[in-house]
Amino acid sequence: MATHSLLVLYGSQTGTAQDTAERIGRQAQRRRVGVRVQALDSYNVANLISESLVVFVCATTGQGDPPDNMKNFWRFLFRKSLPAGSLCRLDCAVLGLGDSSYPKFNFVAKKLYKRLLQLGANALLPVGLADDQHDLGPDGVIDPWLISFWQKVLSLYPPPAGLSPLREEDPLPPRYVFQFLDDVPEKLMNLLPPDDQAPPSSVHPFPARMVSNERVTDPSHFQDVRLIEFDITGSNIQYGAGDVVMMRPCNITEDVEQFCQLLRLDPDCYFILTPTDGSTGVSPVPACLPQPCSVRYLVEQFLDIAAVPRRSFFELLATFATNELERGKLAEFSSAQGQDELHSYCNRPRRTALEVLTDFPHTTAELSVNYLLDLFPEIQPRTFSIASSLLANPNRLQVLVAVVRYKTRLHKPRKGLCSNWLASLDPTQGEVCVPLWVKKGGLTFPQDLETPAIMVGPGTGVAPFRTAIQERIAQGKTANVLFFGCRSETKDFYCHLEWEEKVQAGHMTLFTAFSRDQEDKIYVQHRVKEQAKLLWDLIANKNAVFYIAGNSKQMPTGVCDALKEVFQQEGGVTDSQAQEMLDGMEKAGRFQSETWS
Ligand code: 2AM
Repeated sequence: MATHSLLVLYGSQTGTAQDTAERIGRQAQRRRVGVRVQALDSYNVANLISESLVVFVCATTGQGDPPDNMKNFWRFLFRKSLPAGSLCRLDCAVLGLGDSSYPKFNFVAKKLYKRLLQLGANALLPVGLADDQHDLGPDGVIDPWLISFWQKVLSLYPPPAGLSPLREEDPLPPRYVFQFLDDVPEKLMNLLPPDDQAPPSSVHPFPARMVSNERVTDPSHFQDVRLIEFDITGSNIQYGAGDVVMMRPCNITEDVEQFCQLLRLDPDCYFILTPTDGSTGVSPVPACLPQPCSVRYLVEQFLDIAAVPRRSFFELLATFATNELERGKLAEFSSAQGQDELHSYCNRPRRTALEVLTDFPHTTAELSVNYLLDLFPEIQPRTFSIASSLLANPNRLQVLVAVVRYKTRLHKPRKGLCSNWLASLDPTQGEVCVPLWVKKGGLTFPQDLETPAIMVGPGTGVAPFRTAIQERIAQGKTANVLFFGCRSETKDFYCHLEWEEKVQAGHMTLFTAFSRDQEDKIYVQHRVKEQAKLLWDLIANKNAVFYIAGNSKQMPTGVCDALKEVFQQEGGVTDSQAQEMLDGMEKAGRFQSETWS
């Protein structure tokens, strides 16, 4: 064991930063450097002053915010009371994971790096800024950054003499060992008993009964969009406009069975999971796995076998390969030079981990079950904007879900795991319960009666605005302006009867953009420009808050440009002044957006 230990701390929203952090952990093990890998919020940040060597791997979310699992750390680190030299004994490095198609590219990593230096930490190398858009292939940021990182670390913290590095092709010990039981256990135990007082959470979600699952687009329309209602009576769940609901999908039965066959696992067998004491520290048994657990439960509810696998999956798989052909291919996919090739094989056609296993049958047959949790990440919960208000529908929670299906060059159509799983549930055929919990979302709505809300929500982007409009009307707030866009008035103009009724009652104003009902595309941003006078009056004279929500990357830019044109036309300002006005509104919380892809 090395005398100094490296601490890898990550802030991860979708699992990529966690995967990179774990990769650094494995690289440390191979180099005989003692290492711990932890999510930032599971680390006691007060201990940072006694650490000597820390690498931070942090993602930046779409709006430039830190991921959920580093929010507490973030608040602590930016406390004004922290003395300037408090981290002067710390050697650190920061690797950021971002997406340059969003405006605040790697904002979290840059800000963290600056703050660490301000607190006196010594940076081993400049902040690494990886880009989701371009960080593939040998020219990517991560691999060269890691090479410099290890050169620095090993020169400052050489591993104990006499221990040679482990070879890339040897597997590291697994994080858990499976102990199979001969019989079906009488009682299944959850590790943590639920707390009746606490609201439902990721560890103890509320099993909400599905009340209805209705397709709201015309059957002839290309896209299936569902309005799904849940009964949350007795759940202790409270939510308001802007909040989101979290659900963890399951793998489909067909995939579970195929997976078990490939790995020669009996789905009805039970096992107990024991953490091993690897040099990355003991990983606790995941709180959402019962002990003992059946293989079926593990594969169906926990292992993300339907996701596109990451490079680390191939790295680990390669260590099991004895078939020469397969070993060569896997080694290539694991190497820095093979990343373009891996991208064309996996990412571009959206090939799933299960499909990869079928392409490498010899290696799959050699896999040791103990490595299942090292190979497959946990299925991540999905976030949906809530589409209904508790004030209008007590004890109910609704979501609008676009069922994701598309073609790539692979034979089978690609299907989004969560939306297809939800769409497959049919409450008319017997009781269906979906485990869920609720979180604060990014949008907040004005408290007072008069402040108008201008909401631009094409497609399922309208979901949070449906909650807001229902809630605001129930509270007597009638200054609601909605811009809704879809392809066709007759095919995907969902909720139109509800809007018509509210417009008739004088509770809202609605502008629609049907993009494909005429030759030229009409989008919400065209309607925004057409309503320049009204919008200028609401924003300049009535202090209105402007909102955008939706699932297109270009739409928000289009709407922002339209809004700036409104400012120029009606306010007589220049382009840069219009931008300043928009920035000012954003700072004051009067311009808010929530977008997803
Ligand atoms: P389209 O598919 O006809 O291009 C909801 O998805 C609506 O958003 C659809 O009418 C879609 O139109 C439209 N949309 C697509 N790209 C957009 C963009 N860049 N700006 C605004 N609306 C867009």
